[in-house]
Amino acid sequence: MLKARISTLEAEGKNALKTVKTIADLEAWEIKYLGRKSELGNILKSLKNFSSEEKKVIGSLANGARQTLAQAFAETKARLLEQSVDWEKERIDVSAPGVAVACGHLHLITQLEHQIEDIFVSMGFTVADGPEVESEWYNFDALNVSPDHPARDMQDTFWLQRDEPQKENFLLRTHTSSVQARYMETHTPPFRIIIPGKIFRNEATDASHEHTFHQFECLMVGDDVSVANFKYIAQAFFENFFEKKVLIRLRPSFFPFTEPSFEFDISCVLCDGNGCPVCKQSGWLEIGGAGMVNQKVFEAAGYPRGKYQGFAWGFGVTRLAMMKYKISDIRLFMGGDLRFIRQF
Ligand code: PHE
Repeated sequence: MLKARISTLEAEGKNALKTVKTIADLEAWEIKYLGRKSELGNILKSLKNFSSEEKKVIGSLANGARQTLAQAFAETKARLLEQSVDWEKERIDVSAPGVAVACGHLHLITQLEHQIEDIFVSMGFTVADGPEVESEWYNFDALNVSPDHPARDMQDTFWLQRDEPQKENFLLRTHTSSVQARYMETHTPPFRIIIPGKIFRNEATDASHEHTFHQFECLMVGDDVSVANFKYIAQAFFENFFEKKVLIRLRPSFFPFTEPSFEFDISCVLCDGNGCPVCKQSGWLEIGGAGMVNQKVFEAAGYPRGKYQGFAWGFGVTRLAMMKYKISDIRLFMGGDLRFIRQF
């Protein structure tokens, strides 16, 4: 009787499986035919009550039925799972254009600093660095700008508040010239360095004035470094940087840390000196200040007076960027507008 029942259960289970259409139905079927409390399960559990003869026969029959049903169950499950996939949705269009990964990049000013560094390194220069928060000594006094010197007013300064009035004053450096004395204190000529960096001026901002911008200082010192060396290095740099022939022009000027001092211009790289709105029809672009290092600066750095000669300049990286890319508002550089930054 039991044997017949086992065969019936097996056939019934297999039949019922044919009508199963969903995974949920399949789970209900599993409980009914293969679960621990299923009829077949109960038969298997009750085997211990039979004699060993019966156990052998019924056991093998019940286990066989279980195996057959389990196998049919696994096949149905695989079929239902496969049917539940929307293959149209899963289809991968290998010809579709890819999605670009959003990726940051260096700021235009940093890119140009690297380019400037590469050009100077190729001419035997070393890149030097100094702090943006600077002492009054390195930013002014060591450069022959004493507290009562009228030239202090040339650069509006962000002074830092100090807790102890008798101590040194600190400020945000107003030029990269502050690194000159720092470097010279620890190095003996001959040397040639450039110092790219951020500088700060306490002034009202407009399209051509910004409180934070970038400069690069150049300092070359030796026994007989002359204005001719200065002009050669400057011209070589600009022709390399703008990848075209560039004329340079020196105009007399004044800086306490150089003697003689120059305003430094290059022929307009946009109109090649013919006159355009960027050079205000003059054919020339103002790049920055320069000159032969004042012996007082050498003295402040601890060099003997008259032993060395050198030239120095402080040119605007931000200004060069504006010329190279025809950017008309200096405030765009540090404004943080990604639409601007992403263009470069
Ligand atoms: N430090 C000056 C400035 O920022 C530029 C300069 C540098 C002039 C070196 C002469 C020599 O205006």
